[in-house]
Amino acid sequence: MFYTTDTNHHGLAHDPFKAIVAPRPIGWIGSKGRDGSLNLAPYSFFNAVSDKPKLVMFSSSGHKHSQKNARETGVFTCNFVSRNLAEKMNLSSAALPYGTNEFDFAGLTAKQAELIDAPYVAKAFAVLECKVTEIIEPKTLSGEATDNVFVFGQVVGIHIDEAIVTDGRLDMTLARPIARMGYMDYSEGSDVFEMIRPKV
Ligand SMILES: Cc1cc2nc3c(=O)[nH]c(=O)nc-3n(C[C@H](O)[C@H](O)[C@H](O)COP(=O)(O)O)c2cc1C
Repeated sequence: MFYTTDTNHHGLAHDPFKAIVAPRPIGWIGSKGRDGSLNLAPYSFFNAVSDKPKLVMFSSSGHKHSQKNARETGVFTCNFVSRNLAEKMNLSSAALPYGTNEFDFAGLTAKQAELIDAPYVAKAFAVLECKVTEIIEPKTLSGEATDNVFVFGQVVGIHIDEAIVTDGRLDMTLARPIARMGYMDYSEGSDVFEMIRPKV
């Protein structure tokens, strides 16, 4: 099968693009409104994009609350979702009115970050505290504006649940991180195997 994305005539029941780019990590973004309200929402157009410096980004399809808060306060947290928090993560994706606390809505305890004024998920196995470095509103090939917002942040502090540390390494079979697949599917990234890179 081959198709061009200008027509997007793939002939399938659903657009397969997001099913191809999978599994995608989920950045569960914690932020605070200028009004002091706490906000939490999952983003799978999310990734770590550099380690020196440590940079992450999430992409908002539309001008959603997380990007608004990150833009206004300059900070956000990225929380990582283990299998036992999957259902609460999903609940926190509900399109609630601005100012509604998704930590409460999903039955999660929020904690105040150490270095930035933003909340994080107390039970997340890892949390990145981030300061916004850039916000980009991307354009199409023909230079048209899109309704997407890319928020980049530099990681300034990291929380790790020591229960997932074994022999000095993070043990993903204990953390049981989940990732977004296509459609409404998820995978659990605890089926771990190792490969040593070639030395030439
Ligand atoms: C696993 C998962 C991943 C998601 N990824 C994105 C994403 O990358 N970008 C986006 O705009 N919305 C994404 N959503 C939808 C948002 O979480 C949802 O629109 C949410 O209400 C946004 O909240 P906010 O307005 O508080 O930021 C995702 C939802 C789920 C369940």
